[in-house]
Amino acid sequence: MDDAGAVAMIPEHVPRDRVRDFNIYSYDVDDADFPQALLKLRQPGEPETFWSPHNGGHWVVTRAATIDAVVNDAERFSNRYVGIPKALNPTRLFRPLQIDPPEQVKYRMLVAEALSPRVVATLREDARRLTVELIEGFRARGECDFVVEFAQHMPIGIFMSIVGVPGGDRLPLLAIAEKIARPTSDAERMQGYVELDAYALGMINERRGGSGDDFVSYLCRSTLEGEPIPEDELIGIISLVMIAGLDTVSGALGFFARFLARNPDRRRELRDDPALINGAVEELLRRYATPLMAREVRCDLELDGVSMRKGDMVTAPLVLHNIDDAKFEDPLHVDFRRPRKPSHITFGGQAHRCLGAMLARTELQIFLAEWLARIPEFSIRPGCELAVRTRVTSIMPSLPLVWDPA
Ligand code: HEM
Repeated sequence: MDDAGAVAMIPEHVPRDRVRDFNIYSYDVDDADFPQALLKLRQPGEPETFWSPHNGGHWVVTRAATIDAVVNDAERFSNRYVGIPKALNPTRLFRPLQIDPPEQVKYRMLVAEALSPRVVATLREDARRLTVELIEGFRARGECDFVVEFAQHMPIGIFMSIVGVPGGDRLPLLAIAEKIARPTSDAERMQGYVELDAYALGMINERRGGSGDDFVSYLCRSTLEGEPIPEDELIGIISLVMIAGLDTVSGALGFFARFLARNPDRRRELRDDPALINGAVEELLRRYATPLMAREVRCDLELDGVSMRKGDMVTAPLVLHNIDDAKFEDPLHVDFRRPRKPSHITFGGQAHRCLGAMLARTELQIFLAEWLARIPEFSIRPGCELAVRTRVTSIMPSLPLVWDPA
């Protein structure tokens, strides 16, 4: 059991009519459709911005306009803590994610270079090879646990290609990722961060002074304002690049597969017209945006009729922006031909917009193309109840799929 749900005292500046007993990390979800479940926060009479006493106590914003206001205003909302409660954030700052502009920009430029379109183009073939290898590993069985056997493996494999580590490191890395992403306790998550630090440090020591073209060697050679990057900051950058692309991609893969397993017509539509794949990726990213963003209030301010105090935490479930009917027509409906404007914010707001978006889109497009070409017809194993775990990103721990292997 995670102990993060502890209920905090309600601060004096929080109006009592804005308090709701809602735990953003643990709420009832039917059939893993967490966006639909979050819509209960929008019932008539419910405040658009409320205070939850769970996870250290924090504000929750539920409308597209207020979510935009929070995620796009780095002057008033800081990225110092990217999860709730504050005590459960990484032991070492993830850079650039936990650094506010303008200081953030120099770290952002470094990572942007390492995830540039040129680099993504070179990773594309690795991603395709890994996708095909994983699918072929279970195709003849006619069944798999999609999350455990596919979705959790693909992003680790891509991280390993980026940093250039040997195949033998996959299991130890997966074990660290599990502790951080699916801990059985808060202590286990913090232990995961410590192990990730140690792994990153090991790579730095191995690559320093070398001429390799992998991400770690590149960082060790790079300078910031004319100076070598301190070891502590190198670890923060490498750890972020590993963690940022794990649960996010695996979560998205799980919800994509769930949707297609449940909607044979839409599956066939994609298979018959692969030109729709890019539109399908955007639309499914919109409908099932998994990130829950957190911000720390930087100065006393007013938002949506409430006074927020410096140091308060605010959370923004990005999917509530993407399924707001004030912004999108018929927002729960999945339409692979939906116009790209207005755009979803699954990859975040302005200053910290996801640097791995192009890589993530590439991985998801490859998944759709290669899976549907090999396993065109599949469904969820009858009798399975799907669960979802809602944290900084929402994921399904398990998705049992079956198909005819003939
Ligand atoms: C579907 C997959 C993904 C989703 C939904 C996603 C979502 C996001 C979001 C919402 C942010 C902004 C967080 C904030 O403002 O607090 C972000 C930042 C970031 N993401 Fe992703 N991400 C995904 C995949 C990836 C991948 C594959 C990588 C790299 C391997 C990556 C690297 C990063 C980095 C480095 C940042 C920090 C940017 C900054 O702080 O300037 N992401 N991502």
